[in-house]
Amino acid sequence: MEPKDQLDKDRLPQHLAIIMDGNGRWAKQKGLFRSIGHENGSKAVREIVEGCAEIGVPFLTLYAFSTENWNRPKLEVELLMKLLVSSLKKEIKTLNNNDIKLNAIGNLDALPKKAHKELMDVIDKTKNNKRMTLTLALSYGSREEITKTIKEISLKVKNNLISPHDIDETVINNHLYTQNLPDVDLLIRTSGEQRISNFLLWQIAYAELYFTETLWPDYTKNHLFEAILNYQNRERRFGKTSEQLKQ
Ligand code: IPE
Ligand code: IPE
Ligand code: MG
Repeated sequence: MEPKDQLDKDRLPQHLAIIMDGNGRWAKQKGLFRSIGHENGSKAVREIVEGCAEIGVPFLTLYAFSTENWNRPKLEVELLMKLLVSSLKKEIKTLNNNDIKLNAIGNLDALPKKAHKELMDVIDKTKNNKRMTLTLALSYGSREEITKTIKEISLKVKNNLISPHDIDETVINNHLYTQNLPDVDLLIRTSGEQRISNFLLWQIAYAELYFTETLWPDYTKNHLFEAILNYQNRERRFGKTSEQLKQ
């Protein structure tokens, strides 16, 4: 049986997050420029978005560009931003045809004007779509997000809008970029690296982690369904005992 047919539709991750890594190494292995790796990486994005919509994952979040990625060579950063603009232009139709809403998290003001404008445009034009929320993490860093959150809450305390006693997990959640998203259930990272690289540190507190050697441009729907199948075979205990869960 194909991995897709083995999936339990009632136990899909509600929020799937992916660290799309390995574009550069994919290109290098083939003797190509890194830019070609990124271009093929964007094709994998389409494949995986489609796969998630097909099986009914309601929230998909993709790590597309980190706060640390600004430190890459200027030319590569420019290329990635150009690729973002062209992909947004190209994919808006597909997003609307498939009822997918685009969302973005990160320090979006740091994006070049053109990329920022295109992004806001697609977010606006897909805002009424209901089937799935696709969130792009752009100029995203979890520490930056948490710092911003602390600043905003401190300011509210200073202005007597909230008392320190009332600060709880919900208040913190409501100040994160991810305020409208549920906690991450499954986090996938491709390319063999086993690290988080400043991605959704608060939100993955109880996520299942899945690492695969496959490089991002090679990542297919079948790989995705295998990862979800693996997730479905795990027992999420949330601190309890296995016996408690069976009761
Ligand atoms: C992921 O691929 C894409 C981005 C981080 C933008 P990489 O560009 O990190 O590829 P590797 O890790 O060098 O192979
Ligand atoms: C993480 O990948 C960021 C994205 C996938 C956008 P990197 O390739 O930048 O991560 P490190 O630097 O190897 O940890
Ligand atoms: Mg990388």
